Amino acid sequence: MFPDKIFFVGYMGSGKTSLGKKIAKKYNFNFYDSDAIIEQQYGKKISEIFRDEGERKFRDLESACFPELLQLQSGIISTGGGFPCADSRMEIMNQHGLTVYLKCTPKFLLSRLLQSSSERPLISGLNAEMLLQKIILDLTIREPYYSQANCIIEADARQPEEIFEAMTKCYLS
Ligand code: S3P
Repeated sequence: MFPDKIFFVGYMGSGKTSLGKKIAKKYNFNFYDSDAIIEQQYGKKISEIFRDEGERKFRDLESACFPELLQLQSGIISTGGGFPCADSRMEIMNQHGLTVYLKCTPKFLLSRLLQSSSERPLISGLNAEMLLQKIILDLTIREPYYSQANCIIEADARQPEEIFEAMTKCYLS
């Protein structure tokens, strides 16, 4: 029913990977993750790439893996939070499949990210107040990209089944 490729986009903590994996398992899709592909191919964790070689290198690796994402056969493809925000990638993903923006409020993202900030190099070491400011600022820059998605789904505290239902409704409408 869906196009072969379904790209999940959104800010860190919006559930692209956690919800994506659950939806893939329950509804029988393959699941891919741009960060996992980069880690596997480059042989380093994302946090190590940032630490040893800096954000620029990581963004180059994102660019390099994009053609490969587009070649994947079928399934849900979770993209890193900054991934859609360069080089007309939203436009290109829209041409290659269905894009789904998991849209969360800054407050919800804050609560999710406070639990996992240590694994995320862009926000490690930030206290709650600084992190909230960063989320709000980043979203003003990133929303124009994320909002180009075919389906925009309010995703605060939603279950995988609810997200899947919303995706289906959006795609069929
Ligand atoms: C980033 C988000 C991360 C990861 C990297 C940079 C970003 O992915 O790609 O740390 O720029 O927002 P998640 O959105 O899966 O956490």
